[in-house]
Amino acid sequence: MTELSLKKIYSGKVRDLYEIDDKRMLMVATDRLSAFDVILDDPIPRKGEILTQISNFWFKKLAHIMPNHFTGETVYDVLPKNEADLVKDRAVVCKRLTPIKIESIVRGYLTGSGLKDYKKTSTICGLKLPEGLVEASKLPEPIFTPSSKEEVGDHDINISYEECEAKIGKELAAKVRDSAIALYKEAAAYALTKGIIICDTKFEFGLDENGTLTLMDEVLTPDSSRFWSIDTYQEGTNPPSFDKQFVRDWLEQSGWNKQAPAPKVPADVIQKTVDKYQEVLDLLTK
Ligand SMILES: Nc1ncnc2c1ncn2[C@@H]1O[C@H](COP(=O)(O)OP(=O)(O)OP(=O)(O)O)[C@@H](O)[C@H]1O
Ligand SMILES: [Mg+2]
Repeated sequence: MTELSLKKIYSGKVRDLYEIDDKRMLMVATDRLSAFDVILDDPIPRKGEILTQISNFWFKKLAHIMPNHFTGETVYDVLPKNEADLVKDRAVVCKRLTPIKIESIVRGYLTGSGLKDYKKTSTICGLKLPEGLVEASKLPEPIFTPSSKEEVGDHDINISYEECEAKIGKELAAKVRDSAIALYKEAAAYALTKGIIICDTKFEFGLDENGTLTLMDEVLTPDSSRFWSIDTYQEGTNPPSFDKQFVRDWLEQSGWNKQAPAPKVPADVIQKTVDKYQEVLDLLTK
């Protein structure tokens, strides 16, 4: 892994955070891949770079909706040139925010844990949905389905909107929900013009020193979202997806019990995954 002269303050599942000062930090995306909240042994070459480019694209595109965590500086402003050269494509300089302790998931379509909940209860996170929906059905309106943020190794848990209000306060919960839905709607409409359906996604927000709600972390990457191609989308089936879903599907069929360690992923699955990440970047930005 890259050695930087800045002090490392956190190593997450995918990103490493370095302190610049008490207001700013450097977020470096590695080539680690986490699936079902477990980090795979083998890195995905160039994934950190591709992911950062996708995220940066969205931050810029969505900047008119709400403030984001960028300070406006480049890595060359905060690192010696030789170090900046090494991480320029996968690092960003951002404000250190106070994270809001929920994951803001927005779903436009029904699949995954949402579908499982719906089949059992006709609801997701306590939200009543129409009868008769099936795998990959488009929802009448995008819905906000928050989950609790658990420590590394634990699985995040879907919570009801009321639980979300209890965790972060009524006023903030409404702001987070409305912002997340607005971001999703704009992004999903754009992606559709590029042949991509954004099935669902997770946003993270924080508060700046003035208490302003700010978009942080990464935005609308294959790591935080499910992307489908409109060419292969079919209601009632599990659409083959761009991106990480490919590895997830491979892991699912391997019979793995989703507890660490994960099975070794074959080289061709790794290569296919890199190709998928690159394809998403190309489709969205060209
Ligand atoms: N601007 C910011 N200010 C403070 N924390 C941030 C900011 N942007 C992102 N983060 C946090 O930095 C970490 C990024 O690392 P990474 O996503 O790899 O962690 P993680 O292990 O996946 O943790 P999590 O499950 O919380 O996402 C996350 O915990 C995220 O909440
Ligand atoms: Mg994360």
